[in-house]
Amino acid sequence: MADESPLIRSLRAAVAAAPGDVPLRLHFAELLLSDGRNDEAVAEAAVALQHAPGDADARALMMRAMGVPPVTTPVEKPVEKPVEKPVEKPVETPPDTSGAARPSFDWDAAEQQVQDLVGPRFLEDPQAADGEGAAGDAAAWDVDAPGSVRLADVGGMEEVKDRLEAAFLAPMRNPELRRLYGKSLRGGLLLYGPPGCGKTFIARAVAGELGANFLTVSLSDVLDMWIGASEKNIHDIFETARRQAPCVVFLDELDALGAKRSRTHHSGLRNVVNQLLTELDGIASGAGNEGVFVLAATNVPWDVDIALRRPGRLDRTLLVLPPDATARESILRYHLRERPIEAVDLGKLVKATEDFSGADLAHVCETAAEAALLDSARSGSVRLITTKDLLGAAKQIKPSTEPWFAAARNVAMFANEGGLYDDLLAHLKRKRKL
Ligand SMILES: Nc1ncnc2c1ncn2[C@@H]1O[C@H](COP(=O)(O)OP(=O)(O)OP(=O)(O)O)[C@@H](O)[C@H]1O
Ligand SMILES: [Mg+2]
Repeated sequence: MADESPLIRSLRAAVAAAPGDVPLRLHFAELLLSDGRNDEAVAEAAVALQHAPGDADARALMMRAMGVPPVTTPVEKPVEKPVEKPVEKPVETPPDTSGAARPSFDWDAAEQQVQDLVGPRFLEDPQAADGEGAAGDAAAWDVDAPGSVRLADVGGMEEVKDRLEAAFLAPMRNPELRRLYGKSLRGGLLLYGPPGCGKTFIARAVAGELGANFLTVSLSDVLDMWIGASEKNIHDIFETARRQAPCVVFLDELDALGAKRSRTHHSGLRNVVNQLLTELDGIASGAGNEGVFVLAATNVPWDVDIALRRPGRLDRTLLVLPPDATARESILRYHLRERPIEAVDLGKLVKATEDFSGADLAHVCETAAEAALLDSARSGSVRLITTKDLLGAAKQIKPSTEPWFAAARNVAMFANEGGLYDDLLAHLKRKRKL
């Protein structure tokens, strides 16, 4: 770079000579940032995070470089209830743009009332219905019954399903295949992608396929509950998996390890990572681990301890993108299944919600319902939710995946070591966002 200041140039060289020196790299990133080179600063912060997962300074710098006010990642949220988490994310209440004070109104009663009105629910079935309509899907989407979700219930996303079939399901079902391909299937698969786009949901579907041979481990829970005994518990999880082999161990919110470690400065957590590395290496070497597979998920792959991503460990990645058209249709159908709707043109709605996450789509349905009910309350006569309400809501809501793509784009462009983010780059190219 011709116009580069000597200071930047020499710091760049220093960083190249000591790639693991995090403070030095952050210093360099800070300098780039003050020089207005935000993209490069983001990339340096990302590399720093890989060396020091969860480092607060690196995170803060990354945020500033991206021009985003600091957001709390899902990992940081306050202690969760110990009950089975519903798959749906709670959606924020939409901003009240009407400005009018809300009349007190019995929403439930009104929903009940309009429920009884009959009329065609959907205008037409964009997927050329087989006559069963929405009712057929509804049972399949029952989020409250764990294990009831199957891979076939995940709408669209054929590529992801194919990869999962090849990586887990086929070898689980067929020991012969496992022997043949065993070696090449060693090492775990890391699902990554924007929040709310179905990583956890897809893992649940794999669990539904496998029944007892699927162990879900939420790392943030592990670390909350098991300080002190964490390593032993990690070991126990893998022991159980070995006993139940063939078995998939699913590590959700993998980034929690990094975040927790730096936030608490709890050196014991280093041991947890080490234990996990030992278990993963055990699987890679095959010693007594025949038929144990590891699946992990994160929405901040650049915040996952780099040691966990070395060859033989979580070395294969699978990008889970925002739901495609077919998936959006299923998700919308699911969220509208019990709402009073009339002649909804799903095809139009699917087109208007590109890049929306599953959680955003739930938000759209809720906002539309609210609009219709508010209207009913104002006019005093109850009306059903229409295509117009839904399209209006979709217009009002910005896809929450955008900030993720903004951050991921920089990381993929400037910190794509070992081709980790090739899938993401290909996607961005297709979308002309590079
Ligand atoms: N392809 C899909 N088919 C059906 N439902 C989907 C699909 N993708 C997402 N969803 C729905 O979107 C919601 C959010 O998905 P999920 O919680 O799995 O996202 P996530 O990627 O794990 O998010 P996070 O990174 O925040 O943990 C779920 O309620 C799920 O039902
Ligand atoms: Mg999740």
